[in-house]
Formats: sequence, C-alpha cells, structure tokens
Amino acid sequence: MSIRHFLSMMDYTPDELKGLVRRGMELKDLRRRGELVQPLKGRILGMIFEKASTRTRVSFEAGMIQLGGQAIFLSPRDTQLGRGEPIGDSARVLSSMLDAVMIRTFAHQTLLDFAAHSRVPVINGLSDDLHPCQLLADMQTFAEHRGSIAGKTAAWIGDGNNMCNSYIEAAIQFGFHLNVACPPGYEPDERLMARAGDCVRVTHDPRDAVAGAHLVTTDVWASMGQEKEASERLALFKPYQVNRALLDAAASDVIFMHCLPAHRGEEISEDLLDDSRSVAWDQAENRLHAQKALLEMLVAPTHTA
Ligand code: CP
Ligand code: NVA
Repeated sequence: MSIRHFLSMMDYTPDELKGLVRRGMELKDLRRRGELVQPLKGRILGMIFEKASTRTRVSFEAGMIQLGGQAIFLSPRDTQLGRGEPIGDSARVLSSMLDAVMIRTFAHQTLLDFAAHSRVPVINGLSDDLHPCQLLADMQTFAEHRGSIAGKTAAWIGDGNNMCNSYIEAAIQFGFHLNVACPPGYEPDERLMARAGDCVRVTHDPRDAVAGAHLVTTDVWASMGQEKEASERLALFKPYQVNRALLDAAASDVIFMHCLPAHRGEEISEDLLDDSRSVAWDQAENRLHAQKALLEMLVAPTHTA
C-alpha cells in the first residue's frame, strides 16, 4: 500500500477530513478530562522548519509528546539540508529513522520531492502555496462554535496567499461557499479557482465579500518570504482591513478567525481579537487537537507484544 501524506486538503476524502475534525474534538475533550491517549509510544516525528513558527512547532511537538511519542526539531541552518544536500537524499535518510516528517518550507515542490523519496508520511506544515494543517484547526473551530459549515458562507479578506488557497480547498471538501476579497493582482491560485468552480467567488470589494458571511477570516498582508514587498503591500491592502464595522456587515451570527500571527493596525483593527465574535484563540489551541488527530491517523501505532 502506498504511503499516505498530508500535503493538501485534497489528499483526503471529505468523509476522512470530517472524521479528523470529529476526532480532534474528542481528543480535546479527553485532554480536558485528563485522560491519556498514547498510541504513539516510541514513535518519532521529524520537524523541518525552513521558516519561523510558534504554533506549528509547539503544537506538533506537544502533540507528539502527548500521544506518547517524541519530536525532533530540524533547522536547515544546523543540518546538511542548509548546505545543499539533495532533498531526495535527505528524505531517504531521515525517513529510515523517523516515523513521520513535518516540513515547513518555501517552494511547495520541496514537499512533493521529499514525499516522493520518503518511506514515512510527510505533513505540510506550510508552504508558499498551502497551509492545510491550519484548515483542520479552522474547520474544528467552526464546528465547535457553529456546527456544520456545509452550505454556509465564508469570506476571505486580503491576500490570495497560501491560507486563502487552503480555504478554497476546504470550501470544495467541506461544501461551503467562499467569497474572496483581494486587491487586483493578488488573487488566489488560478488552477484551484478553476477546480472550485461555483464554490468560490472573487471580488475586490470587502463589503460585498462579507455580506451574509458566517465566517470572516484574514491573514497577514506580507507572508514569510515577502518581507521586501511589505511596504508596497501595506499601502495597497489598506482598504482590506477587517474591523468591527466590516464584521457588522456580515451575518448576525458571524465569527472571525485569524491563523495568527496577527499585525494589529494592518490586516485587523487594534481591537478585533478582543471582539466577542473573534474565536482566534480557540482556533490557535485547536492546532494541537486537530494535528493530534492527524498524527494518530498517519503514524503507525505502537504494537505491544
Ligand atoms: N498559524 C501558524 O501556522 O502559526 P505559526 O507560524 O506560529 O506556526
Ligand atoms: N500567510 C502566512 C501564514 C503564516 C502562518 C505566511 O505564509 O507567512
């Protein structure tokens, strides 16, 4: 049987994704009740970070430990990856010693190349194109606060970036409608848009995008790797700030999410994370629970003799 990876939301069926969300909720409840779930004793996750991270690193590392296993942090600065060892060679070697590998990288192709040479599951911890782990947490957060997202409307405001692309994949897989409001020239991936068909609509007007929306979400205007464009983007994206007035124009039961880190005063107003409609802290915590469900599914459990 071929190895299953998690490089994109499209790697699993809608039922599998819904099952992961349900399991994430169960694991959260079990942790609250102090019950140990440790199927991954002796298992090791390697975590390659070519970009900075707080949530992804800590949630994967804590998640593996809670499941009974361990995680190893690998930075290209301290490994031969940073000195040009081919990705395929690294994949062969690392996957002979580890039980799964999580990678946060720039080019999505790096993940594909690693996965092609890996004998263990590879997880996308964010690439320039996609951030599927965040979407597992976001879908869990919506389910906890509002129930099923199927048939609902979400609005993405800002850059058509990796997070926006993963929202498009989630809209396809979970059956919700997505309105994207971005400045001209900053639209999401064209192929994904074509695949999404009627699920996704792009506008350049944030108020149009949020009309009737049950979920409003945004992200930084300059992603990691785009630091040089930051000041140009700041001016261009100004009309796309999410603030209380914009949320007032959405559905009366709207909730607001941000994958974090947030830049207050830029993509969100200073006060937005304190608004009662924001569920961003729950969303951040759910990275832990949702990814534990993912690890439980992907990493072979320990066999006791
Ligand atoms: N949302 C998210 O992925 O956060 P980190 O960059 O801190 O991992
Ligand atoms: N779009 C952001 C997400 C960070 C979690 C970035 O890629 O930097």
